[in-house]
Amino acid sequence: MARHLITSAIPYINGIKHLGNLVGSQLPADLFARYQRGRGHEVLFLCATDEHGTPAELAAAKAGKPVAEYCAEMHETQAEIARGFRLSFDHFGRSSSPQNHRLTQAFAARLDEAGLIEERVETQIYSKADGRYLPDRYIEGTCPNCGFESARGDQCDNCTKQLDPVDLIEPRSVISGSTDLEPRETKHLYLRQSKMRGELSDWIDSKTDWPVLTTSIARKWLNDGDGLQDRGITRDLDWGIPVRKGEAEWPGMEGKVFYVWFDAPIEYIACAQEWVDAGKGEDWERWWRTDKGADDVRYTQFMGKDNVPFHTLSFPATILGSGEPWKLVDYIKSFNYLNYDGGQFSTSRGRGVFMDQALEVLPADYWRWWLLSHAPESSDAEFTWENFQQSVNKDLADVLGNFVSRVTKFCRSKFGEEVPAGGAHGDRELALIADLERRVRAYEGHMDAIEVRKAAAELRAIWVAGNEYLQDAAPWASFKTDPEAAAMQIRLALNLIRLYAVLSAPFIPDASAQLMEAMKIDDDAWPGNVTEALSVLPVGHGFAVPDVTFRKITDEERADWHARFAGIRS
Ligand code: 2FM
Ligand code: ZN
Repeated sequence: MARHLITSAIPYINGIKHLGNLVGSQLPADLFARYQRGRGHEVLFLCATDEHGTPAELAAAKAGKPVAEYCAEMHETQAEIARGFRLSFDHFGRSSSPQNHRLTQAFAARLDEAGLIEERVETQIYSKADGRYLPDRYIEGTCPNCGFESARGDQCDNCTKQLDPVDLIEPRSVISGSTDLEPRETKHLYLRQSKMRGELSDWIDSKTDWPVLTTSIARKWLNDGDGLQDRGITRDLDWGIPVRKGEAEWPGMEGKVFYVWFDAPIEYIACAQEWVDAGKGEDWERWWRTDKGADDVRYTQFMGKDNVPFHTLSFPATILGSGEPWKLVDYIKSFNYLNYDGGQFSTSRGRGVFMDQALEVLPADYWRWWLLSHAPESSDAEFTWENFQQSVNKDLADVLGNFVSRVTKFCRSKFGEEVPAGGAHGDRELALIADLERRVRAYEGHMDAIEVRKAAAELRAIWVAGNEYLQDAAPWASFKTDPEAAAMQIRLALNLIRLYAVLSAPFIPDASAQLMEAMKIDDDAWPGNVTEALSVLPVGHGFAVPDVTFRKITDEERADWHARFAGIRS
């Protein structure tokens, strides 16, 4: 039995995520966690909300709530939606937890001891009306290069020139619109990750089996001129983890907090502590400390491509720089973007389908299947309602659902609600079993390699093989001349339903549970060999005809949803 530590990038707290966010990390991480559990391995699957930073503060202000209260509420909202999508986290933590406060402060102290922290004085824009320093992107003004009036402090969206807030003509605060801004000197901590360039580069070079998407982004950042620059890890904000050196004050850093991207990945570790403190587990160190048994752990991270630099370089710099025996990631699975109907999903502009809305329209399995079978792996992918309708109607309703319904209803009407006897398997059955044996092993191979689309395609092919067999064997016809043969065919087909439930559970867990219940069996052991797996339901074993497993999406519904989600969510 292997041990798998699996983390999904932790979603920002400010608002409900859209389907593009879901398919970029949480959902494929869940697929992999469920698969590894299904194979009988020990799994610790963690996710959390990413609660610090200016966006969280601004979202709270917009909602008219104190930021701590806003985060607590949004955490519950996100947790509820995650349950709705059947995301099987062992713990859904919070980056604002006391555990993460302590651990983040401890990491900073270690990095300082190792000579990897530098204090720098820099000039930043202070807004008197807002009573705070403004991060670059919260300052707007006229671009000195092209005259565009809404250029941001970090970049002009019109001419793409990289800017410094002091370059802007007539700068103003995005928060209040105030132009009463002044440069002030302020001290910050920098992580000297440039000193670790060689070590990080060797580490990335050793990861020859990683997806090209992951390593190419990491190398680009390592090798670019302004690649691995030292990184500011503190901010002048109220909300966040106070800058301390472990438990001690950090002279000169009073009133400052750690940068959200410094504490967010540390939450992966703190989350395991939260899991133990919540009474759900006993020992977090055997997952995270290589001196406490984590050497045997295989650690896989899931994330969208925009998160790759932080996970391939910054977080490893924190871990390696600490000089402590923390577990480093073994495999990083990253994803491209999912687009929505000819444009981009956008949280800030409210464009696309958001997780709560999706569940109002159809149950989780419909979305899980479409999203995973179209995961943006080798390139960006696009959600369209036509494609969604087609995939649901064909794969789920026509192929899988129809198989289950035909087999169970035919059996009930001809043999009653128990597995009929019939004779031994004939050539057609042996050919099917041989085909399935190959396909199940191929499916495992794709799942082990986290090739999500290929795994989905193989699973679909496994469903199709059963359908074609049924079409070919045609027990409704053979029943008239050879009821023994029809009984044997149906016995095989009922067993196939159980096998489908086991194999499909990582993709469509609710349907899988429904099929297991209809087959009145708990034995969900992963098939060691298909012949044996197809004799788990013995002759005389009772079953029930399930309710419709998957329904079709009508053209009217498709048109209706298309119109309903064409606009911008307020
Ligand atoms: O991009 C995001 O949604 C970030 N909140 C991901 C953070 S992942 C990590 F480092 F914790
Ligand atoms: Zn410009």
